Amino acid sequence: MIKAGSRRVVFVVVVVIGIVVVVVDGGGFTVGKEQREFDYFILALQWPSTSCTNVTVCCTTNACCRRAVSPTEFTIHGLWPKYEGKGWPSCCTNETFDETQIRSLFEDVDKYWPTYRCGLVSSCDNRKGSFWAHQYEKHGTCGSPVILQEYDYFLTTLTLFYKYNVTEALENAEIVASDTKKYPIQDVLNAVHSAFKVNPKLACVKKGIIKEIYLCFDKQFKLRDCDATKSCPKSVKLPKFHKPHGKLNRSKLIGTRRELKMSSMKPKRNPNEKSHRRRTDKEDPSLLRGAHKRRTY
Ligand SMILES: *[C@@H]1O[C@H](CO)[C@@H](O)[C@H](O)[C@H]1NC(C)=O
Ligand SMILES: *[C@@H]1O[C@H](CO)[C@@H](O)[C@H](O)[C@H]1NC(C)=O
Ligand SMILES: *[C@@H]1O[C@H](CO)[C@@H](O)[C@H](O)[C@H]1NC(C)=O
Ligand SMILES: *[C@@H]1O[C@H](CO)[C@@H](O)[C@H](O)[C@H]1NC(C)=O
Repeated sequence: MIKAGSRRVVFVVVVVIGIVVVVVDGGGFTVGKEQREFDYFILALQWPSTSCTNVTVCCTTNACCRRAVSPTEFTIHGLWPKYEGKGWPSCCTNETFDETQIRSLFEDVDKYWPTYRCGLVSSCDNRKGSFWAHQYEKHGTCGSPVILQEYDYFLTTLTLFYKYNVTEALENAEIVASDTKKYPIQDVLNAVHSAFKVNPKLACVKKGIIKEIYLCFDKQFKLRDCDATKSCPKSVKLPKFHKPHGKLNRSKLIGTRRELKMSSMKPKRNPNEKSHRRRTDKEDPSLLRGAHKRRTY
């Protein structure tokens, strides 16, 4: 057992190490948070149909309500720095999400990383923000020393998403959206394994309805196995997308005005963007969409 005195010593040592990390690292972690460097990444992908099940309010930011272009493939939830075993670091710096940094990626982010709700979600330090603000501030700021900037967080996540198309991997094993079919969970896991040679992880809501699929990566963005804990039953479903039911309130335009403005913005370079490094052709997001096949990480 650790006595109170020695616990204080341990605490002091941890704080000192924290300070050293901040000094050496130029701000990777906030002093006092006592969070160590992450061990690996989870790319969390969500199944739109399941994510939209409980949606009853529509607004312009809610992808559940896009009529012609309702999402029919897994979309990005986030890229999460994770510790081996339990836990993950969160809110590692006090940086706040700045949408102008990713303006040039907006078309891709909006399409493949959509939010499935209206309104703001909680972020760090009792702030509220968009889905993207939540993902970046809570998870993205903990990517040090691999991911240090907001633009890199979003670009890296999109790039991984394009490179490893889980929807396609399932389709190739004839696992497609259906309201009636049940799939043995092992078939779903095998489909991803045969495409990418690693074990993914699944998350379900009740009755084995798939909600998310996770792919895991090491710090060089090489695929690796996810942890083997189970969160789905033996047989699972991948329901089709249905338009949200219930009380739809189309007049309810929740979400920040800036968010809405952003969606009508043409991607263009911001002359004030000097905080992130110059983009090379390789990083030009307009090349991203078709480029996942020839891109290597
Ligand atoms: C929808 O709401 C029900 C009841 O609150 C909950 O049990 C279920 O998990 C929710 N579904 C999703 C996909 O979040
Ligand atoms: C981050 O928060 C700490 C503690 O609240 C504060 O001392 C520091 O100045 C902040 N850093 C930045 C860059 O805002
Ligand atoms: C992933 O694969 C599906 C099914 O083949 C396809 O419809 C979709 O466009 C692909 N997504 C991306 C981002 O390439
Ligand atoms: C729709 O939302 C508006 C604004 O929040 C509210 O005033 C109105 O009562 C809502 N209508 C319905 C039918 O819920």
